Amino acid sequence: MLDVTPLRASTSNARRTSQTDQTNVDFVGQVHDFDTAAPVSADTARAIDDAMTRYGVLVFRGQSLTPEQQLDFASALGPLDIGFKRVAKPHNRLGYDTLADISNLDENGAVARREHRRIVGNIANQLWHSDSSFQTPSARYSMLYAVVVPPKGGETEFADMRAAFEALPASEQAPLRGLQAEHHALHSRFFLGDTEYDAAQRAAIAPTVWPLVRQHPSGRSSLFIGAHASRILDMTLAEGRMLLLDLLEHATQPAFVYRHTWQPGDLVIWDNRCTLHRGRRFDLTQRRELRRATTLDA
Ligand code: OGA
Ligand code: MN
Repeated sequence: MLDVTPLRASTSNARRTSQTDQTNVDFVGQVHDFDTAAPVSADTARAIDDAMTRYGVLVFRGQSLTPEQQLDFASALGPLDIGFKRVAKPHNRLGYDTLADISNLDENGAVARREHRRIVGNIANQLWHSDSSFQTPSARYSMLYAVVVPPKGGETEFADMRAAFEALPASEQAPLRGLQAEHHALHSRFFLGDTEYDAAQRAAIAPTVWPLVRQHPSGRSSLFIGAHASRILDMTLAEGRMLLLDLLEHATQPAFVYRHTWQPGDLVIWDNRCTLHRGRRFDLTQRRELRRATTLDA
């Protein structure tokens, strides 16, 4: 149904179990001849879902989307997520709670000073994470659309959590399956030294718990970690955090990572259940403007 060409394979590995159909395994695909501004039929939504089950990331180039069109496209794929806006809204330049302003712009649309509150959010996005893993339901698909990109840097990287899990020896996989991690919306902010949240904000999203290894609709197992994971249940804080760091280091090796270099008009969709992502550093005095719509995994 969709015309997709692979951009990046899900790193095949000798240790992959025989249950995985290797011919049906990919990580990043580019979709051709598709207008994301057009109304999405039920058949088309199903075709996107099918492609997203196979690929963790789909790239659509040359799109032209108003905020309303982006939200319409996302709504066809599921209920929309609000995410961190339940805790803090530095400002609401775009005017929709369901459209995340992934930019370094202030309330007037000018490049924000580096001390501006919203810049912490830009920097938090540079830590490997899965969107809204701090809530239940968490995010299913994130759809990020590029409006203005800086001349250098500011790429977004995606790491393949299915391939990363499959690459672990069976003796390391087995003990992970029983473990659970707590995820907290403010964990990464606290890590960055951003602690100015009042009691209501701290209580806005209670910590939630996810298995460290989740079953994906593709039938493959996936590591579920990232910057919101604050501890492992039934482990000491130190031991749990070290395990999370070790797994993150393993899972974000270059073999599992695709780097997307943005062009204005790119729309990239990723499945937060089986990928981590992070933005890359850029010159904060340069304009970078993207918009994200996100569906809930519900
Ligand atoms: C996001 C995100 C990274 C980036 O939009 O969810 O993490 O490169 N973005 O801006
Ligand atoms: Mn994100």
